[in-house]
Amino acid sequence: KLSVREALVANVEEGTKNIKIQGWVRSIRSQKEVVFLHVNDGTSLESLQIVAEPGLQSRISFGSSVEISGELVKSPSKKQNVELKAEEIRVTGDCDSKEFPFKIKEHHPPEYVRQFPHLRCRTNTFGSLLRVRSEATSAIHQFFKSNGYVHIHTPIITSNDCEGAGELFQVEASNRDGTQEDGGFFGVPAFLTVSGQLHLEIISGGFRKAFTFGPTFRAENSQSRRHLAEFYMVEAEVSFTESLEDIMQVMENLFKDTTTTLLSNCPDEMNFFFKHVSPGQQGSFLTDCSFSLHRMSYTEALEILKKAATSFQHKTEWGCDLQTEHEKYLVRHCGDLPVFVINYPYDLKPFYARDNEDGPQRTVAAVDLLVPGIGELFGGSLREERPHILQSRLDTLGLADTYQWYLDLRRFGSVPHGGFGMGFERYLQCILGIDNIKDVTPFPRFPYSCLL
Ligand code: 4AD
Ligand code: MG
Repeated sequence: KLSVREALVANVEEGTKNIKIQGWVRSIRSQKEVVFLHVNDGTSLESLQIVAEPGLQSRISFGSSVEISGELVKSPSKKQNVELKAEEIRVTGDCDSKEFPFKIKEHHPPEYVRQFPHLRCRTNTFGSLLRVRSEATSAIHQFFKSNGYVHIHTPIITSNDCEGAGELFQVEASNRDGTQEDGGFFGVPAFLTVSGQLHLEIISGGFRKAFTFGPTFRAENSQSRRHLAEFYMVEAEVSFTESLEDIMQVMENLFKDTTTTLLSNCPDEMNFFFKHVSPGQQGSFLTDCSFSLHRMSYTEALEILKKAATSFQHKTEWGCDLQTEHEKYLVRHCGDLPVFVINYPYDLKPFYARDNEDGPQRTVAAVDLLVPGIGELFGGSLREERPHILQSRLDTLGLADTYQWYLDLRRFGSVPHGGFGMGFERYLQCILGIDNIKDVTPFPRFPYSCLL
């Protein structure tokens, strides 16, 4: 038994008998003497060509699942290296191709494909996406492992709102009959996590480097092409660092190393996206990851925006949050390459960001990495490790009681530290040039939609 991927690269100079492959029929071309099939099992972009005598199996149709035995031989055609000369074909699952939503050799736009989350892994585009997503997951774990980080499972159910933005999904216990005695999480308020950062900061109080990579949830009522209600976040926390530059270096290395691994481990899929999904657009800056990342302060960014010939919908006064239109302008301004924006206004960032003390509560040591086609991909900061400054910020926000344990971390062996979070779906969008975030995750959750 071989997977399609194994069969495609098998050495078949002599021909190899008794090979069995299993998969789904991607195309059928019948001639008088011979039938050509293409079968795919999700292991590669390319399908395996099957050559069969007409009449060997009559039930085959586009979309049906099959088990085929025969001899793997060198293909006479230049289009592929090998093909399987079928001796036996068993249809394991029929498919009525008239009813099947996808048609042979037709291009289906992403909005159409998205309507069939239960079937879309059968398309070339979504199949490729899932393979890249899986490789990227491994590459990210590998990056952190090889750089000495411990992997931490941070909780999904939590009592904190790390970002303080109030965009929380509340957890509600429910009995089978719909009644329950205590509200919330067995009587206490609890939420789906918006970020693993605070738990990671706890770990970074005893481990120099830690990371987490899990689902996070935001109750943002946004239908935008870069927001989901449930998305995966890669988060890292580094202790004994006093410089935002150190954190930015980890961000840059993570981005480039992961992408380099993908370019070498799934070249077919990457090229497929560059060629067919985003020709000449996003993703194209990647080719070898040798570009350098620009840096600018928030204050410089504002000056650039103010001087811009473009008129923006949102205001561009010092202190305003950077909107997607601003982020895109800044990326274009930097030659369509990623750019770090650092030192944001104090009031724009959550309580944990470290005060730069460059004026009364003026800026904090926070950084966003903006990338082509997306805007914000990473958010990070140095964390406020000085107990008295943190205490006074929490007092002002009325959060000192809630975050007593967080203050404790600053009382018992505090260290300067910092970290970041990268939206995994946005990363995939950026490197593959995929316009809509709903097309980089198998089961997207967004307002008014929780299919399957
Ligand atoms: O900028 P954010 O909100 O930062 C944090 O949550 C920090 N606590 C992370 C940290 O320092 N450990 O989110 C981080 C990234 C964003 O830059 C963006 O890429 C992504 O998460 N993100 C989303 N992705 C998809 N859908 C959403 N609704 C997202 N919200 C944020
Ligand atoms: Mg952010």
